[in-house]
Amino acid sequence: METAVVKVGLIGAGTVGSSLAQLLLDANRVDMLIDAAGARLELVTVAVRDQSKPRAGIPSELLSDDAAFVAGHAPIDVLVEVMGGVEETRGLIEAALRRGVTVVTANKALMAAAGTELVQLAYANGADLYYEGAVAGGIPILRALRTSMAGERINRVMGIVNGTTNFILSKMTSEGSDYADVLAEAQALGYAEADPTADVEGFDAAAKVTILASLAFGTPLEGEVIFREGITKIRSIDVAYARHHGYVIKLLGIAERVGDHAISRRVHVAMLPEEHPLASVHGAFNAVFVEGAFSGPLMWMGQGAGGNPTAAAVLGDVVVAARNRVTGRCDAPLSVDETLQNYPMGELQTEFYLTVDVLDRPGVLALVTGVFGEHAVSIRSMEQSGFGDEARLTFITHLAFESDIAATIEDLEQLDVVDSVGACIRIVGEE
Ligand SMILES: NC(=O)c1ccc[n+]([C@@H]2O[C@H](COP(=O)([O-])OP(=O)(O)OC[C@H]3O[C@@H](n4cnc5c(N)ncnc54)[C@H](OP(=O)(O)O)[C@@H]3O)[C@@H](O)[C@H]2O)c1
Repeated sequence: METAVVKVGLIGAGTVGSSLAQLLLDANRVDMLIDAAGARLELVTVAVRDQSKPRAGIPSELLSDDAAFVAGHAPIDVLVEVMGGVEETRGLIEAALRRGVTVVTANKALMAAAGTELVQLAYANGADLYYEGAVAGGIPILRALRTSMAGERINRVMGIVNGTTNFILSKMTSEGSDYADVLAEAQALGYAEADPTADVEGFDAAAKVTILASLAFGTPLEGEVIFREGITKIRSIDVAYARHHGYVIKLLGIAERVGDHAISRRVHVAMLPEEHPLASVHGAFNAVFVEGAFSGPLMWMGQGAGGNPTAAAVLGDVVVAARNRVTGRCDAPLSVDETLQNYPMGELQTEFYLTVDVLDRPGVLALVTGVFGEHAVSIRSMEQSGFGDEARLTFITHLAFESDIAATIEDLEQLDVVDSVGACIRIVGEE
């Protein structure tokens, strides 16, 4: 029987796209890919912004600078979009889907903003839309949630899903360095962008949590703002305190059930007990920890970014896409559970680590702890360290409502004897 051919168009040949082109054009992989996909994958066109740039390994006759033509008109079965961006890219993906071309993308920003509509558009046109590369680079977590865990009731998904911030926090932990110094080093090494906002303020992780939650719980992929807090306020003293008390500081993306009808989705720094599996994920690595009702805890770990790992995940999508093209089927979109509420952050209960710098005078401790008491925040432990005329009070609370902690901090900041309220970090993973 003649081997079917699935024609692939690629938009973007940068970090991810050039690695993917290399995989698709590798003569040693042809048979393996035919076996896996049931078809020969033929890369027929590669759109880039600047066609004159040298592109090692990509024959010049495949190159084009007309992404709109590739998406809307080129004779392809599968479009791989790895150019990034939201508005222009959305138009390109819609054009491909409208003519029944399956789309594979690694674009977390677009999927988190408009994924629900795009997946429905794909299905309405008999095409698929896959986006494994959009979350945690090389880790195949989306397909695991979507297929392997399809019948499981997932209670929580918790991940280190941003390599840049994990690199920074890991260095702060191992070397005791300050945030600004490690950020500069990460930028010099290429682990952080010149403008690091998307990473260090948690925007990138928030998009990934939105995607993970949609697969785990059926929440919508439509850019609803989730609670987000970055790593920029973390000081070396907080990291040292955490270490001393058996915790590790991580930026976590969390999506979890609260009762039967609500999901809490959030990104924030957390103190994790050092024995928690996520605590040992260091450097630029990513990991996703999933708790299922029957499966119990599971964890996937790997390289969360980089051309080769991400291209490996994208290629997996291309193979599945090709298989569907050959058999003439496409995946039904995951249903969105309209009954689920977004659990309000203020009602979430966590233990907190909190530092308060105060004037070192008699009676100050009573004033400060009185504020905690007024807001029903119960203190589990307190340490005091002095420096000059000032003292630093470090508190660990019992479970407290977010809204009560916020009110406590607001009132503490009004006290004359309080110089500043420093870090306020949630403690996670002890139950
Ligand atoms: N890098 C990673 O580790 C990683 C990991 C996971 C997901 N992703 C996602 O993958 C996507 C691509 O990331 P990347 O790091 O590979 O980006 P990149 O290195 O900046 O490459 C972007 C590519 O798209 C091309 N391009 C940009 N605008 C274009 C346009 N209007 N028409 C045609 N081509 C255009 C560029 O062309 P020129 O080469 O001519 O400039 C370049 O080849 C993003 O959505 C990103 O979030 C990346």
